[in-house]
Amino acid sequence: MEEGAARFSEQRSAEVVAASFASADERLRRVLTSFVHHLHAFVKDVELAEREWELAIDFLTRTGQRSDDRRQEFILLSDVLGVSMLVETINHRTGGRSTESTVLGPFHMVASPPRALGDTIALEGKGTPCLVSGRVTGADGEPVPGARLDVWQANADGFYDVQQPGVQSELNLRGLFTADADGGYWFRSIVPRYYPIPDDGPVGELLAATGRHPYRPAHLHFIVSAPGYRPVTTHVFVADSPYLDSDAVFGVKDSLIREVPEVDDPDRAAAAGLPNPFRSLTFDPVLLREAAAD
Ligand code: BEZ
Ligand code: FE
Repeated sequence: MEEGAARFSEQRSAEVVAASFASADERLRRVLTSFVHHLHAFVKDVELAEREWELAIDFLTRTGQRSDDRRQEFILLSDVLGVSMLVETINHRTGGRSTESTVLGPFHMVASPPRALGDTIALEGKGTPCLVSGRVTGADGEPVPGARLDVWQANADGFYDVQQPGVQSELNLRGLFTADADGGYWFRSIVPRYYPIPDDGPVGELLAATGRHPYRPAHLHFIVSAPGYRPVTTHVFVADSPYLDSDAVFGVKDSLIREVPEVDDPDRAAAAGLPNPFRSLTFDPVLLREAAAD
């Protein structure tokens, strides 16, 4: 044995493995060393049985097998373990000055079609009509003219268009909007419904085995961006939705919940091109300047 090296033992297992990364570059060494220390501490903490190790290997193997270019079961696993939200939150700290972020999710898999302010994204008659509007500003309150708002949402039955090809119209409930000179935007939609994340794979088994439901509360997805500002990937949650307190992927932040009140005003309805009464969701995204975000 080389001088200074140590044989593997139960006590020294993590140190011995970590030492094998000595010639990796600094960041990789730091990440792998921490990972191995936590992993070995976990195995020791629960005294992992060989049968449990085999079960875990089988679970991870099937998680990979269930993934392809349309479905990413590993990201879903990361989502239900809260890891996606943790990585998202660490990497997009706001200091309380800008709109908080949340997970991207798997349904932003097609480009949203550019639409004009006031257009509808609801290409089918179903659902409760809703006016979505607001103003994009910077953290100092300055308007962000021409900000881009990429939006997508589930329909009134809780499905995205890509989950129901041939049932829903393509690009239903998606749109890419450009804010006006004052940062203002508005479009017509319907109130989204809560829905289950894909639960017919290994992640669904994990949820079932732990008595967890697969539901996410009703929400609209937004990616808001503008030159010179840090983009934000987020949702707006509907305040009266079930599952706000038990989101399967831990995506809810209090600052992202909005009431969606009914508006009974024939003149406003006519001006917006909506039937009366309608619901109204107001969301004013706040972006951080790139320099401030650093
Ligand atoms: C979504 O909101 O679209 C979503 C996020 C995480 C997992 C599944 C769906
Ligand atoms: Fe979603």
